[in-house]
Amino acid sequence: MLRIENLHVSIDGRLVLRGVDLEIGDGETHVLFGPNGSGKTSLVMSILGYPGYRVLSGRISFDGVDITDKPMDERVRMGIGVVFQNPPKIYGIRLKDLIKIISKSKMSGAEISGLMDRLNINSSLLNRYLNVGFSGGEIKRSEIAQVLTMKPKFVILDEPDSGVDLDNLQLIGRELAENLKDRSGLIITHHGYILNYVKPVKAHVMVNGVIVCNGEPETILNRIKESGYRWCERCYEMRRSERL
Ligand SMILES: Nc1ncnc2c1ncn2[C@@H]1O[C@H](COP(=O)(O)OP(=O)(O)O)[C@@H](O)[C@H]1O
Ligand SMILES: [Mg+2]
Repeated sequence: MLRIENLHVSIDGRLVLRGVDLEIGDGETHVLFGPNGSGKTSLVMSILGYPGYRVLSGRISFDGVDITDKPMDERVRMGIGVVFQNPPKIYGIRLKDLIKIISKSKMSGAEISGLMDRLNINSSLLNRYLNVGFSGGEIKRSEIAQVLTMKPKFVILDEPDSGVDLDNLQLIGRELAENLKDRSGLIITHHGYILNYVKPVKAHVMVNGVIVCNGEPETILNRIKESGYRWCERCYEMRRSERL
């Protein structure tokens, strides 16, 4: 579904991804861990083709097609959907208008109301300008509703469980678990709360713009909980010395 090879990306002349390799198979969900500033969001933006993220070398393929140089709208049409970590406020655009535009020919009215009900998005939230004054939970539920309405083949979730209380986490977790059954995904999480609901098949850890290890999600999360990212930094140093 997604194959990333030796990806180097810079933002504003600053190298943020330094040779990322990642492969996610059809129907698989993977999880990505990594300390703050390690480049996780930059990887998401690079997969999406967000302007400003300059690919210096390497390749991104999606569904067997090289998308490295494709514009963002084409990638989205191919089926990549992203739930952003920090989506912007947009004055003048109501959530309901955006959902209406996104859902065109993708979802019936009944399907949309079912989704909104399950995510506890009521008409008063639908009538508000996008993310303006939304709480942490409302932002995430609204982001997830927008992305699921697009029916993407591949869903990227950048910290869907950050800044979300336990009730919101349950709503989000259940909906994502159901939706990830028949599509592929990549979830970024710090504390792993979302993994109580969604069960990825593989975990990766990113440090300083490279993926330093892969493994079984539960094992890796437990190690991070026990000793933070100290041991990952040692793996990073080992990888770096192997490369030199
Ligand atoms: N627009 C930008 N301009 C310059 N540097 C950036 C920009 N966005 C991110 N960075 C830098 O890239 C690095 C990786 O950031 P990010 O991808 O957000 O990490 P993470 O999501 O793992 O916390 C950080 O050092 C951050 O400061
Ligand atoms: Mg981030």
